[in-house]
Amino acid sequence: MPEKTSSIRLDQTPEWNALARHREEFGTTQLRELFAADPERADRYTVQVGDLLLDYSKNLVTDETLRLLRELAAATGVAGLRDAMFRGEKINVTEDRAVLHTALRAPHAERVEVDGVNVVEGVHHVLTRMGTFADRIRSGDWHGHTGRPITSVVNIGIGGSDLGPAMAYEVLRPYTARELTFRFVSNVDGADLHEAVRDLDPETTLFVVASKTFTTIETITNATAARDWLLKGLGAGQEAVAKHFVALSTNAEKVSEFGIDTENMFEFWDWVGGRYSYDSAIGLSLMIAIGPDRFREMLAGFRLVDEHFRTAPPEANAPLLLGLLGVWYGGFFDAQAHAVLPYSHYLSKFTAYLQQLDMESNGKSVDLDGRPVAWQTGPVVWGTPGTNGQHAYYQLLHQGTKVIPADLLGFARPIAELGPFGEQHDLLMANLFAQGQALAFGKTADEVRAEGVAEDLVPHRTFRGNHPTTTILASELSPSVLGQLVALYEHKVFVQGAVWQINSFDQWGVELGKVLAKRIEPALTEGAEVEGLDTSTQALVDRYRSLRNR
Ligand code: F6P
Repeated sequence: MPEKTSSIRLDQTPEWNALARHREEFGTTQLRELFAADPERADRYTVQVGDLLLDYSKNLVTDETLRLLRELAAATGVAGLRDAMFRGEKINVTEDRAVLHTALRAPHAERVEVDGVNVVEGVHHVLTRMGTFADRIRSGDWHGHTGRPITSVVNIGIGGSDLGPAMAYEVLRPYTARELTFRFVSNVDGADLHEAVRDLDPETTLFVVASKTFTTIETITNATAARDWLLKGLGAGQEAVAKHFVALSTNAEKVSEFGIDTENMFEFWDWVGGRYSYDSAIGLSLMIAIGPDRFREMLAGFRLVDEHFRTAPPEANAPLLLGLLGVWYGGFFDAQAHAVLPYSHYLSKFTAYLQQLDMESNGKSVDLDGRPVAWQTGPVVWGTPGTNGQHAYYQLLHQGTKVIPADLLGFARPIAELGPFGEQHDLLMANLFAQGQALAFGKTADEVRAEGVAEDLVPHRTFRGNHPTTTILASELSPSVLGQLVALYEHKVFVQGAVWQINSFDQWGVELGKVLAKRIEPALTEGAEVEGLDTSTQALVDRYRSLRNR
């Protein structure tokens, strides 16, 4: 293990205690009161970063809250850690790694060194190779084993090697080469692969095997099954693999062991975390879909927010603000969850993507020194596109017992391709604005009574309001705006991890289940006896075996 960082006992800092006292004073202050007292609140509590406008006025904060939160950020060294990250220092201390997803979108002229090597050079080299390959697929110049051009691309990966490209493909669908088919396979459930390939022609299908480690069992199992499907379908031998399989990985040895020529491998590096990787080679399927130019526009969007995060003053620093708001709610309102509610169909996978980004990063309960934390860390992140949610779970947001801060995401213009269907856009956005309003200001019992509602129904029809939301508005969903949004959330998660004194960049918590699954598998496939199973799991295994063999 590398040199130890001494982390701060957050709850013993004067800054944390000042916030605790402030929380007591804040009491049950209502957003209604805060807005009534300050007609400028909406303007004052809005920041602009690139194309993103963030209105955080409907949060349970005052100038004093924000000042105290910024002091907490200063006391916990957020800015110092941020600068160390951008410089390429090994801030992922439990794995002794740099955390440099920001180098993936740095301009060619910039230098960022890890162990004396300028990593930006490698980034641009791979981007160029990816671009050449993507163009060959898009133009029909890359031919399969039988000489036919590729028309279908199947990305096989899981976690960060799936969620990023799959989400971004969905978001940027209107920018994709519609004549090509794209599928994303992640689940080790054979149904996922079956549904992805059942109507594809092996002669015209390319598999993109995405795995940082190239050892992830789900991905290797699916890739092996895909290779069998391909070779059987083509009636060909191993020589056909070269035209139909490419790998995205850091592990050249495992890639060639699998049978993929490393000529067909697009490299990335251990300083790119899986959940921060879709702007690396892991984005190849996306690049084939949208083309290298659009991909670079997306990288420029990321970069814009990176620069903002690095240089904007704390009062106007959007990721810092978002992160601190979450610290406030988790620490002092006992908020356990955070909803991300996009008012865009194209963002339907965005929250699922953020779940890994946020929960794998900040789902931690020991600090950098390994001591249990005594404060809330990462929230449960969830959500689906807004209007659908309104007719499902928003009831709980409005009238349930829980504090669930939410982000409402929307766009001023519909995608041009929607044509006449784009006329529905105002109605969509009216819903976003209405929900923000209803959540913040509710409806008092007197307002309900004034509508002539019978007294016994008044409590049922009262909305207490005061539910915090942040509205993020952009002009239009574009590759650059997507990059800006993702970078905004990446840095928000960073800020929270820094304040909470945890390592946001490892994920040991996913290991135990993997190890146990490997132990249990022989009991299911070969009926082998597995030592040391608890009685409940043993009984389930026995039951499964007898049901399976019936
Ligand atoms: O679930 C753990 C994890 O390591 C993620 O962090 C990662 O994104 C995913 O597995 C896939 O890993 P790989 O890209 O190495 O196959």
